[in-house]
Amino acid sequence: MSDSAAFTLDDADVQALRNAVSHVSKIGYCEALVCDRLGLSDLTSLLWRAIPIYRSRQLAERDVLAIAIDLFLLQGLISPDELNKLFDKDTQELFLRAGLISLDEKGRAHARASLFPVGNRLIFSDLAWPMLSQAGYVKAPSDQVMFVGNDSRWLARATVRRPYGAALDLCTGSGIHAILAAFHSQRVVAVDINPRAARCTSFNSQASGAANIEVSVGDLYEPVGEERFDLITANPPFVPSPANLLLFRDGGQSGEDVQSRIIAGLPKHLAKGGIAQIVTEFGEREGEPLSVRLREWLGGAPMDIFILRLREYTGAEYAIGHADGDESYDTFLSSVHDWFDNLNTQKYTRIVSVLLAFQWSDPAESPLTIVEESEPPQRDAGDEIEAAFQVERLLRNHSFREKLIQSRLRLAGPIGFIESWVLGGDIHANTQAKLLGKALPITHLLAPLERAILVMAKESPSVLELLESARGLNLEEEAVLTAIGSVFRRGLVFLTPVHSDP
Ligand SMILES: C[S@@+](CC[C@H](N)C(=O)[O-])C[C@H]1O[C@@H](n2cnc3c(N)ncnc32)[C@H](O)[C@@H]1O
Repeated sequence: MSDSAAFTLDDADVQALRNAVSHVSKIGYCEALVCDRLGLSDLTSLLWRAIPIYRSRQLAERDVLAIAIDLFLLQGLISPDELNKLFDKDTQELFLRAGLISLDEKGRAHARASLFPVGNRLIFSDLAWPMLSQAGYVKAPSDQVMFVGNDSRWLARATVRRPYGAALDLCTGSGIHAILAAFHSQRVVAVDINPRAARCTSFNSQASGAANIEVSVGDLYEPVGEERFDLITANPPFVPSPANLLLFRDGGQSGEDVQSRIIAGLPKHLAKGGIAQIVTEFGEREGEPLSVRLREWLGGAPMDIFILRLREYTGAEYAIGHADGDESYDTFLSSVHDWFDNLNTQKYTRIVSVLLAFQWSDPAESPLTIVEESEPPQRDAGDEIEAAFQVERLLRNHSFREKLIQSRLRLAGPIGFIESWVLGGDIHANTQAKLLGKALPITHLLAPLERAILVMAKESPSVLELLESARGLNLEEEAVLTAIGSVFRRGLVFLTPVHSDP
């Protein structure tokens, strides 16, 4: 696409750009209000094929927010009057100079970059739909700077947001994760192999006022030498693709070309006490748990791993979703065939979207592997990810059992049950439990004893009281303690020391 933004800016324009972006924020261009205006519960459900519907239904009233959404998110054509309503003349000229918008012969404006609201921050990228009249990216240049996609948002929401010394964002693209980390880290290094992406990240750091980001063009860890980081984030190209067409998307035929090297580099670059978080997809083979591959890439380094499984796709769904060939149905079918063939060659039976987190293990313990399934996070879930590691470590602590006996159980919040029953008997065949109001809505399958403990936890019993009732029912103490540990591990109950009772 010849009409894309250059992502370069004269020094003299930096402050003016920052002011202009702040003006766009002030008119309500933030994630919550844009979602609301488009009638979406989450921006991850924005569909480009529905653009005409959003425009006619949600943006019919042309206030400044509607105009900004149409221009920067939906790639619409804005009339001269609308442009004047959105920006004063100076700002229009700035956006033209910076190559963020263009005017046609009738003075109508269209965007040359997309602008994504991520929480209250704004991130520029190349146009999300470079060929709006046709589906897919087939004709996008291979150095296209990736839009803020669902995977980008999932990682942004999963990132553990505590204060860090140094953060590293690999495969930075638009720089979304580097920009977000800049506001809770002393310094951030952002790396991308694509010079155009590096320019876009620098541009975004200028626009957001984040002055603590160093942007490097390079291959993964190569620009950072031996340095270690407290936070490492990465959204690598991960798609197992029959042909490497797009730098931001394709991870070679296995999909693992880049991600395997990122994980292999963690032992050398993750600081003690730090966390590395990656959003990616993996092809899964029958009988081969993902953790085996991750451990292999870590080369035996003692790291705890949290694998959060978000979505699964069959080979056919994946091939159809990625196939190109807008020219004709035959071309499309032939592309589906190529994609599916490639997955078969890799022996992938399904593809899974995951969020991964890595931390150094406690040196006294063997490395942990935690695997959970959840819907993708709809809001910040960093605390829940951090808590998952902490709870597992607590459970393994030798004094845990002693603490447990002296504890009282409290429900961690309202819990939704979905149950199936066996007809003709009083048996729960299956109970699913979900702690409501969590950013990671994990569904837990409960054993009957775990279910019974949760029901009793409503009354906040002490563990000793629970053991007492269990004895009356001839239940083994060990089984009851294990079941309590299990509902605690899954965050469904809190434990408070009995001696702190009011
Ligand atoms: C999936 S995009 C992610 C962009 C952004 N981090 C996000 O979450 O929206 C992957 C990015 O990785 C970059 N990339 C691909 N191979 C790389 C490598 N070997 N080293 C550094 N960056 C690489 C691509 O240029 C692209 O910008």
